[in-house]
Amino acid sequence: MSEKNITILGIESSCDDTSAAIIRDGVILSNVVANQKVHEEFGGVVPELASRAHQQNIIPVVDLAIKRAGIDRNEISAVAFTRGPGLLGSLLVGTSFAKGFSLSLNIPLIEVNHLQGHVLALFIREKEGFFNPPVFPFLCLLVSGGNSQIILVKDYLHMEVIGQTIDDAAGEAFDKCAKVMGLPYPGGPHVDRLAKEGNPHRFEFSKPRIPGLDYSFSGLKTNFLYFLRDQIKENENFVEENKTDLCASLQYTIVDILLNKLKRAARETGIREITVAGGVSANSGLRNALTENAGKYAWNLVIPKFEYTMDNAAMIAITGYYKFLQHEFIGQDAVPFARTQL
Ligand code: KG4
Repeated sequence: MSEKNITILGIESSCDDTSAAIIRDGVILSNVVANQKVHEEFGGVVPELASRAHQQNIIPVVDLAIKRAGIDRNEISAVAFTRGPGLLGSLLVGTSFAKGFSLSLNIPLIEVNHLQGHVLALFIREKEGFFNPPVFPFLCLLVSGGNSQIILVKDYLHMEVIGQTIDDAAGEAFDKCAKVMGLPYPGGPHVDRLAKEGNPHRFEFSKPRIPGLDYSFSGLKTNFLYFLRDQIKENENFVEENKTDLCASLQYTIVDILLNKLKRAARETGIREITVAGGVSANSGLRNALTENAGKYAWNLVIPKFEYTMDNAAMIAITGYYKFLQHEFIGQDAVPFARTQL
């Protein structure tokens, strides 16, 4: 098989974004993401509505990705899809579509772990512009709505989780605390925006004492909830009157928890090549803290482009590309996994 003109169609449908992307020889040609607005009024993702929306979106999204890439579908070498972790009903839509696509064009099928995709998003190359991928081995702080992990990345396809949350993810802490303040879903970006105008030291929230490199965010969430409940008893306008300070103090606490373990991981492994991935890596407080620490500890910090940090199919396609080079294909009997490790 020629190692040139390898064109991968990536499909991502693990949660509430339907996405398709085309990557050729590691260079991105298109990345289409359809967000699902249907969940907003419920303050969180409703799994059954998500899978139905994926069914409606998947064909137009793939069609658009192929058109935007300016290729013919017969030029596609393989189809890569997110097999897990994620919502089972959502994953089923992408998995079934990918299988059908591979069968109809008689091209290989490649399964991708969603978390590995988030890490390899750091290697998406654009046609033009600066390309500055990290050097192996590196540490990746993977922070999203469903995960908070520190990953030791040895190679494109060899990664080891050296720390992870024992309960909630950082994104969940942002979203759930935002919800109790009456902010729309997902709350992370709203907290980020409001935090810019607030005082991060006005309120102090609890930080976990978890051994090793693991995280915990459920205590902070409960602490935040009880604090608001008590304050609202005294003053029913407490949240409205203190929203920016609440957001700034909450963000400061989450970022501090994340950075403490990351610094420890860098110290213990001796690795100074540091990266970040996942939706929460869009957070400006986290980005600032990473940059500050990079200066202080001489880290070589690599932060992915904003559009590749959120759930997207370009990260699935780039992972598919590296798996294609190793001929790591999977059969038509592949089933999705709601829960799976790296
Ligand atoms: O990786 P991602 O797109 O998908 C899931 O894992 O679901 O991450 C989504 C998460 C949500 O929790 C969202 O609130 C959070 O990333 N997020 C942010 C920001 N942008 C997205 N959290 C804090 N600050 C942000 N700017």
